[in-house]
Amino acid sequence: MDGNGRWAERRGHARFFGHVRGAARIRGVVEEAVSQGISALTLFAFSTENWKRPEAERTVLWGLLERYLRKEVPGLLRQNVRLQIIGDQSRLPESSRRAIASAQHVLSQCSGMVLTLALSYGARAEIIEAARRFAQECEQGRASATDLDEATFSGLLQTAELGDLSDVDLVIRTSGEQRISNFLLWQVAYAEFVFRPEPWPEFGAEQFSDVLKTFAGRERRFGGVTLPRPELGVNG
Ligand code: IPE
Ligand code: MG
Repeated sequence: MDGNGRWAERRGHARFFGHVRGAARIRGVVEEAVSQGISALTLFAFSTENWKRPEAERTVLWGLLERYLRKEVPGLLRQNVRLQIIGDQSRLPESSRRAIASAQHVLSQCSGMVLTLALSYGARAEIIEAARRFAQECEQGRASATDLDEATFSGLLQTAELGDLSDVDLVIRTSGEQRISNFLLWQVAYAEFVFRPEPWPEFGAEQFSDVLKTFAGRERRFGGVTLPRPELGVNG
């Protein structure tokens, strides 16, 4: 969700105004995802690098998260959405951690789309943490190096709970930047990327639906080749 600050600055407003508008955009996108039958949606809301921002801006962002959760949980519950967090939650303000725990509790029985918020998240830190955990298993004699394969490693990442869904199908970045910025580096191995020019406060359900059409038109070969479609009716 990129471009909140620039969106506001271009209008002569303070950056925080862009964050307020950006946060208001989330509802429509989540509703569109649910109505299109998407199983998992991850929003990159705050990166490990975002801690470098001034304290005043960080305070606004955490406040918006808390407000979003308070306001949106009833709607998420109606839509059967489960909430998951990735990132280093221990760095978050106590009030944000409480708001997250309470939202997760309310939504814990939901079995529809999994909405993941990446908060204080960085993919390199996630990968290092997974590697450390595996190394510790080895040191304690509970695993050996040759046990490690891709599925095992995926299972050590913070997205493990998503199972097969942890492999990302589509990454959308708004605001015209064409970078990955330490987002789900392992999980995007075969993802499709769509870069949109709109800043996040201008990205809504309609633009999201448009991106999904672009995605549907992509040919995904996963490193293989596209085989000609067998003629219908031949061999059943
Ligand atoms: C995205 O907007 C929101 C967060 C990273 C929290 P930005 O704050 O990155 O906006 P720009 O990139 O400065 O315009
Ligand atoms: Mg940005």
